[in-house]
Amino acid sequence: MKILVLHGPNLNLLGTRETEIYGQTTLDDIDAMLAEEAGNLGIELRTLQSNSEGELVTAIQEAAGWADALIINPGAYTHTSVAIHDAIVGVAVPTIEVHLSNIHAREAFRQKSFVAPVAIGQIAGFGADSYRLALHAASRLERS
Ligand code: DQA
Repeated sequence: MKILVLHGPNLNLLGTRETEIYGQTTLDDIDAMLAEEAGNLGIELRTLQSNSEGELVTAIQEAAGWADALIINPGAYTHTSVAIHDAIVGVAVPTIEVHLSNIHAREAFRQKSFVAPVAIGQIAGFGADSYRLALHAASRLERS
């Protein structure tokens, strides 16, 4: 099984950014944890971080030819991006939405997700473990 993990804007700052919300774990730590977990699960994994909405849309489009599932933390684009919503619909790759924080327990503007209606499900609030849980959920999609 092949899985693409996309990290959206400002997630390259993890480890120093608002650590009281997002914790001390860096994006490299998360990617290393995912690589190890993917190895255990027999998953071929690619990861990409971008601060650009257009690059994320292009990566989603390119996933269509390769990935069996997409795991995405769209960062702030979660709450604004019709383009990412449309790309996910357009490629029809099963998608799991991930957030480190529980967006539903935060400011009102974070409680709306343009991705959630086109995702299989959303995992939010477990810090870096949200990604681990998403990888396990994705690994079980083929079998369900
Ligand atoms: C986030 C939540 C978003 O609201 C925020 O803009 C982020 C991170 C999270 O993982 O909790 O950049 O996606």
